[in-house]
Amino acid sequence: IDLGIMVNQNKSLGKDTIELLAVAYHIKAKEKKQVNISDIDKMFKKEINNKKHLVPRPPVITIMGHVDHGKTTLLDYLRHSHVAAHEAGGITQDIGAYQIKEKGKTITFLDTPGHAAFSAMRARGARITDLVVLVVAADDGVMPQTVEAIDHAKAAKTPIIVAINKIDKPGANPKKVTNQLTRYGLIPEKWGGNTIFVNISAKLGTNVKELLDMIILKAEVMELKANPKQNAAGSVIESKLDKGKGPVASVLVQEGTMHIEDPIVVGDTFGRVRTMTNENGKPLKSAGPSTPVEITGLSSVPEAGDRFVVFDHEKDARAAGEQRAEQAQMERRKQDNTVTLSNLFSTM
Ligand code: GTP
Ligand code: MG
Repeated sequence: IDLGIMVNQNKSLGKDTIELLAVAYHIKAKEKKQVNISDIDKMFKKEINNKKHLVPRPPVITIMGHVDHGKTTLLDYLRHSHVAAHEAGGITQDIGAYQIKEKGKTITFLDTPGHAAFSAMRARGARITDLVVLVVAADDGVMPQTVEAIDHAKAAKTPIIVAINKIDKPGANPKKVTNQLTRYGLIPEKWGGNTIFVNISAKLGTNVKELLDMIILKAEVMELKANPKQNAAGSVIESKLDKGKGPVASVLVQEGTMHIEDPIVVGDTFGRVRTMTNENGKPLKSAGPSTPVEITGLSSVPEAGDRFVVFDHEKDARAAGEQRAEQAQMERRKQDNTVTLSNLFSTM
C-alpha cells in the first residue's frame, strides 16, 4: 500500500517491486529459476561475486524524542554547526540528514521533529534506521512523543540508545528520568538491563564523545553491510517542489550506488538523476550505501517515505513509474467512490 500498489493472492508482482519490498523489510529476495545445467556454473559465480561485493557500510542513526528535548542541538554539536539557530521558530520541520566522520569512520545521522504533528515522519525515521538515539531532557522527563518514539522504534525492531540530555540545567534529574524509562522496558546495563544510557549536555558537549563512542560500538557489533555494486535502492527523506530546480528529493541510498543519469522510480514517479548533491550542496557523481543526497530530475514530487529503485534502462523505469502512477490514481478514485455512512446518507 505504501508503494501505491494493491495486490492480492491472484496478482503477480514485478521483480523491481519485489526488490523494493525486500529492501523495505530488510529481507533478501531470491529469484527462483528453472535451472538448466549450463546455467548453474554462471549462477554459482554470480553468488560468489555477490558475497564478495558485500562491504561494510556506515550506520544510519536517527535522533528521536519529544519536542525541544535537544535533538537538533545534539546533532549541531556533532556536526560543529548551527542548524537549529536558522530554523523557523527553532522547530525541526522535516528530517535533515547529515554525515559526520569520527576516527575515519562515517556515520549517517537523521534528525526528526519532536512536535506532535509529525508522527508519520518519526515512524518513517524509525523504519529506515539501524539505531535510534532517544533524547530525553533531564528536566522534563518522559513525555508523549518520547513514548511514541519508543513505540516506533520497537515496532521497527530498531535498537535504542538513550541520551538523557540537559544535565547542565538546575532542575535536571537524570536518575528520575532513567527510572521513568524502565517502565517502557529501557533498563540500563548497570541495573541489569541491556540498554545503553548516557547522560549528556548537548549544549555544552558534556559526554557527547562518550555517546558517540557507544553509537560506534553498537553499530560495529551489528556488522552492517551492503553491496555498492548493485543498482541503488533506498527511501525518500523529504521532498519539495523548487521553483528553479523542479521536483527535489532528499533520499537515503540504502543499497547499491546511485549515479548521475541513473533511470529511477520513486514511489509513483520516475525520472533520471539529473543532479545529485550532498547535505552541504556539493555536487556528487555517485553516492554509495548509507549516503543521504538531494536529487533532481524526477517528473513529479515523491512523498517522504517513498521507496526508490534504480533501473538499468530508462524505458523500464518510465513504464514502471507510469504503471505505479496509474495504479495510485485508480486507488485514489476507488477511495473517493467508497461508500461511507456519511456519503451514503448524503446521496439518499
Ligand atoms: P524539535 O526539533 O522542535 O523537536 O526540538 P529539538 O529536540 O531539536 O530541540 P532543540 O535542539 O531545538 O533544543 C531546544 C532548546 O533546548 C534550545 O533552546 C536549546 O538550546 C536547548 N537545549 C538543548 N540541549 C540543551 C542542553 O544540553 N542544555 C541546555 N541547558 N539547553 C539545551
Ligand atoms: Mg529539532
